[in-house]
Amino acid sequence: MILFDPVWTALLYLAASVCFILALKGLSSPRTARRGNLLGAFGALVGVATVFLSVRLDNIPWILGAIAVGSVVAAPVARQVKMTQMPQLVALFNGVGGGAAALVGLLELAHADDPWVRLAIVFALLVGAVSFAGSGVTFAKLQELMTTRPVVFPGLPVLMAAVLLAAVGVGVAVVLTGWLPLALLLLVLGLVAGVLLVLPVGGADVPIVISLLNAFTGLAVAASGLVLGNVLLLVAGTLVGASGTILTRAMAAAMGRSVAGILFGAFRGGSTAGSTAVSDRPVRSSSSEDVAVLLGYAQRVIIVPGYGLAVAQGQHTAAELAQALEERGTRVDFAIHPVAGRMPGHMNVLLAEANVPYESLREMGEINSEFRTADVALVVGANDVVNPAAKTSAGSPIYGMPILEVADARQVVFLKRSMRPGFAGIENELLYEPQTTLLFGDAKDSLTKVLAAVKGL
Ligand code: TAP
Repeated sequence: MILFDPVWTALLYLAASVCFILALKGLSSPRTARRGNLLGAFGALVGVATVFLSVRLDNIPWILGAIAVGSVVAAPVARQVKMTQMPQLVALFNGVGGGAAALVGLLELAHADDPWVRLAIVFALLVGAVSFAGSGVTFAKLQELMTTRPVVFPGLPVLMAAVLLAAVGVGVAVVLTGWLPLALLLLVLGLVAGVLLVLPVGGADVPIVISLLNAFTGLAVAASGLVLGNVLLLVAGTLVGASGTILTRAMAAAMGRSVAGILFGAFRGGSTAGSTAVSDRPVRSSSSEDVAVLLGYAQRVIIVPGYGLAVAQGQHTAAELAQALEERGTRVDFAIHPVAGRMPGHMNVLLAEANVPYESLREMGEINSEFRTADVALVVGANDVVNPAAKTSAGSPIYGMPILEVADARQVVFLKRSMRPGFAGIENELLYEPQTTLLFGDAKDSLTKVLAAVKGL
């Protein structure tokens, strides 16, 4: 059944491409992100429908069956996944995309007489396989199916270099001959390279590598678009490749690292995970009532949310507390660090879910100079993103990461459960400073108690 002629097909692909571009634009702000997401999904629907209505497909039952299986597996997983597990889910979906691009390359080799097409196939095959295997390892790391620490062994850099050299050699041979067994060997080399690439990457850096692999998948898909002569795949893949690259660089910059340092830091012995030792030095702790008094009589409060707020699911209570304080005449802002939590935009999504007004969500660069005018900085389940070691301690795994300058506030209150460190595994000297008070407990419980006490003032 062919309904659309090539002109209509091209126009519909163009419309879908515009949807993707507008979706990316929408995703750049919390206010428009939901609309952007829907627009992207609509573009994908237009693209899939256009393929069905413009290409003579011989295997429709198989294709529908594959779509059904994919939907039955993916939809419940996407619905049920906890926000804190989102990076693993992205890794999994991304890996499947890379694997699909590699399979397209493999299947198209039989029809590829032109060496330029075979070059695109080699690219899709190799980069797709790297992305598939690398994403699998990142999933295993984040899901704690294996150690989250960097895995290095003697000879790893040499092995990696040998695999890459072999891949280049075999790739050239595939371009020249188009021989399928060589392409299968290239696939295996790509899978091994993907595993070796991600093994040395440690805990805090894994989400950045997911973003990098996402860019790889995009490029592999773009190459498969070239192979199939499908403009929409080419555009969509290039967009994913470009946006993944931009995101990777932005995340690395927000952590004060270089992408090369993240990928190859462990070879030089620079592990990203510190110790998890818990110090027993004295700290000042107080009750929820005392914290409520501190907040209730402050003129300016800045709330710093972090990973612990997401774990405790305390976002609604945090929003209520901010509202209660504002009703008392206190100005309240939320200071958002770009890598607070465990995925890009984690805090924005969390607080948007609790209907915190967008204008109260203030980016790091914008709010940092305002901490000195704050009476209280209320740090809720955040640690690394406010840790001054990032500025002062040259050997620390977070050294060089820009931080939220909470130490400039008159009082700092930390809501956390214990003296355990954050994700990077390093102590936070700010916890021991004289202007700091700790309220121990689960963030949601503590916020609930503080809120009740503020209402009773
Ligand atoms: P962390 O430094 O990981 O600190 C989280 C804090 O929350 C800990 O102090 C923990 O202390 C506390 N906590 C955990 N569960 C809690 C609960 N139920 N109630 C109260 N407190 C709780 O978080 P952060 O400051 O948001 O920093 C994020 C880290 O992740 C950074 O190192 C960043 O580089 C890394 N990272 C982020 C991303 C992105 S894109 N967001 C990507 C890669 C890596 P207790 O255990 O004592 O409660």
